[in-house]
Amino acid sequence: MLRNPGEAYRLLNRRDIVVLRVIEKYMKQYEYVPLDIIVSKSKMPDKEVSLSLSKLNRLKLIRRFRGDYTGYLLTYLGYDCLALDDLVRRNIVYALGPKLGVGKEADLFRALSPANEKIVVKFHRIGRVSFRHTRKYRPYVEDKPHISWLLQSAISAEREFKALLECEKAEVSVPKVLGRSRHVVVMRHIDGILLYKYRNPIDPEAILLDILDSVRKAFLKVGIVHGDLSEFNVMVEFNNEKPIIIDWPQYVEKDHPSAQQLLERDVRYITLFFKKKFKVEADTEKALRYVRGESESI
Ligand SMILES: Nc1ncnc2c1ncn2[C@@H]1O[C@H](COP(=O)(O)OP(=O)(O)O)[C@@H](O)[C@H]1O
Ligand SMILES: [Mg+2]
Repeated sequence: MLRNPGEAYRLLNRRDIVVLRVIEKYMKQYEYVPLDIIVSKSKMPDKEVSLSLSKLNRLKLIRRFRGDYTGYLLTYLGYDCLALDDLVRRNIVYALGPKLGVGKEADLFRALSPANEKIVVKFHRIGRVSFRHTRKYRPYVEDKPHISWLLQSAISAEREFKALLECEKAEVSVPKVLGRSRHVVVMRHIDGILLYKYRNPIDPEAILLDILDSVRKAFLKVGIVHGDLSEFNVMVEFNNEKPIIIDWPQYVEKDHPSAQQLLERDVRYITLFFKKKFKVEADTEKALRYVRGESESI
């Protein structure tokens, strides 16, 4: 079984991509897209479409339904291949490498850009872990639970992409974002380590101040709150000890009813971490006033 979308993508030809695209398009109307629609919309000889469908089914890029009619739906792996194809054609991704990590709601891979730079490809995967939990908080496309997960993953990626772009403009310290397609976000690879694993910092106080500075700019200039700030979503660059805040899809706008509460949570979490781990004495209340723009220093 192919686990890496890059491996699956390499086995595809243009005909396979056309068939996947047709299924993607008509999945908004049918949970399983009928075979005759796939054949007519692909504009290819029946036999070629059938060959392609069996191959895609075998590779688990699509799933077949046999009942009163035969139909197909796109799996996450099929959706991954469509996004990769788009990113490759737009010269954003050149090749996908090994897995970087599996998070709660994403799979991340190392990759290379056409200019041979190290990049990271993040596949958003809503609905994979806890069905009930996710469902409670997100809009739900009735009767089409499967496509709704794919579309919600695309919405999540779009949110993260937008947040990263806006943050970069406002000089919030975030990974440089390079592109997006569907449920996939591409960004520059950070040569560093997650904050919770970082030992013996030279100047922990400066790292905390840098983080709070970013939180302040995100709040005052971009108008958003990260909402999941912790030692697991901050990376520290090896060469200059600069903190970079990652993982933005859950951000909320400043005027969201939970924004103030989340901002408080973010600031409290990070100041407490620095206190416990590095003995940096930072007053949470003062830090909060600073990030809200109510004072000019901490
Ligand atoms: N730009 C990046 N460069 C290097 N590593 C990254 C980058 N973005 C994420 N990672 C790594 O991947 C992990 C998961 O990424 P993250 O965006 O936090 O997604 P999630 O927590 O939802 O899985 C991070 O903890 C980090 O180790
Ligand atoms: Mg994370």
